[in-house]
Amino acid sequence: MAEKFIIEPTGRLMGRVEIAGAKNAVLPVLAATLLTGARSVIQNVPDLSDVESMCCLLEFLGAKSSFNKSGGELIIDTDNITTYEATYELVGRLRASFLVMGPLLARVGRAKIPLPGGCAIGSRPVDLHLKGFAALGAEVDHSHGYVTVTAPKLTGAKIYLDFPSVGATENIMMAAVFAKGKTILENCAVEPEIVDLANFLNAAGANIRGAGTDTIKIVGVNDLHPTTHSIIPDRIEAGTFMVAAAITRGDILLCNVMADHVKPVTAKLKEVNILIEELEGGIRVRHDPSQGLISADIKTLPYPGFPTDMQAQFMSLMATAQGTSIITETVFENRFMQVGELKRMGADIKIDSRSAVIEGIPRLAGAQVTASDLRAGASLVLAALNADDVTEINGIHHIDRGYFNLDTRLNNLGAKIKRVEVEVK
Ligand code: EPZ
Repeated sequence: MAEKFIIEPTGRLMGRVEIAGAKNAVLPVLAATLLTGARSVIQNVPDLSDVESMCCLLEFLGAKSSFNKSGGELIIDTDNITTYEATYELVGRLRASFLVMGPLLARVGRAKIPLPGGCAIGSRPVDLHLKGFAALGAEVDHSHGYVTVTAPKLTGAKIYLDFPSVGATENIMMAAVFAKGKTILENCAVEPEIVDLANFLNAAGANIRGAGTDTIKIVGVNDLHPTTHSIIPDRIEAGTFMVAAAITRGDILLCNVMADHVKPVTAKLKEVNILIEELEGGIRVRHDPSQGLISADIKTLPYPGFPTDMQAQFMSLMATAQGTSIITETVFENRFMQVGELKRMGADIKIDSRSAVIEGIPRLAGAQVTASDLRAGASLVLAALNADDVTEINGIHHIDRGYFNLDTRLNNLGAKIKRVEVEVK
């Protein structure tokens, strides 16, 4: 059943919020459990629909999972893999399903996965993943919308990624875990989620060095063993709550966040006059009443640049800042889907190819809007927190994919968000 948010005008958000485990770390780690053939215990797992979808896929492949949601502990046993093929329906629900290709190829010597389609933010090709598998000796076939990769045994290789793709780095790294000899992955992604995946794999007996740098070395091992791993905090969820403090001129303490991982967002918030304090118990984010929120330019880049996953949220903030901001999206080709909806809320934004020019206004207006994807949805919630009247946000299933109870947790900080069923006419 479809639901929507009804958000009333909100005052300053105040209080503390616990940041959950990272969606973009737990999804590759769950895929990587296929390599262990054993029982892995994953902790600090966020209760998200994307996590449910990944568990459904792993169970379809033969794994057994049990998720203690309140405790955030997910046990997954991949001893018995019964198929190497994923269905169109499962991959359609979760693009990150494609991350099971590398582990299946390494574990059972083949994988057949539907080509993930594009999505709201772009065509999302997987050519770099497939080039990496081929370099390791796999045969890659395309037919009827499926990709089949086959290799009785993979051999280590030197692979240079044309673009530091997060997913390609993760998929190839997992495929190389059992490959004969050494694999060197160059120009790879350096996101914290890559490091978390390598830490999980090494704890299970893999031999991976250099994760977090642009060159990763993987020496093949024979097998992996059971392990326990705790997922890093979600730096994008943290950034989203930081913007919530800024856009409501509030004062929020974020607990369970890794300050290093949110540096690009912290730096940008300081640039627009938001006060940030790194304390023992977390990061305090507050508006400085003696100075107004001012504009700043942003260019999204691979880590450690400003994250593309924070672009929409920051656009909402800049829509209420004094002055003109230019936001350039360099990572995805179509990630301004929130602009049309923000303009319906009174924002003054003009798109000029990969840049958006934003003229800040003091308050946005409440309106009926629709989320097109996860982060665009988050940006609309943030905009609604600043609006002078009631806002209705449809399509909130996009938001539930990547944020655990975003409404409840914002309400605990003083927001007034109701989640209601949409009557189907
Ligand atoms: C991951 O997606 C994240 N998803 C995305 O988060 C995030 O926006 C993205 O990395 C960039 O940080 C997960 O981790 C599950 P990419 P991924 O491969 O791996 C091009 C969110 O909101 N490319 O680094 O798909 C691609 O088209 C989501 O949480 C190729 O050309 O991102 C894009 O323009 C959205 N060929 C760019 O690279 C390839 O084979 C970055 O993509 C692969 C990618």
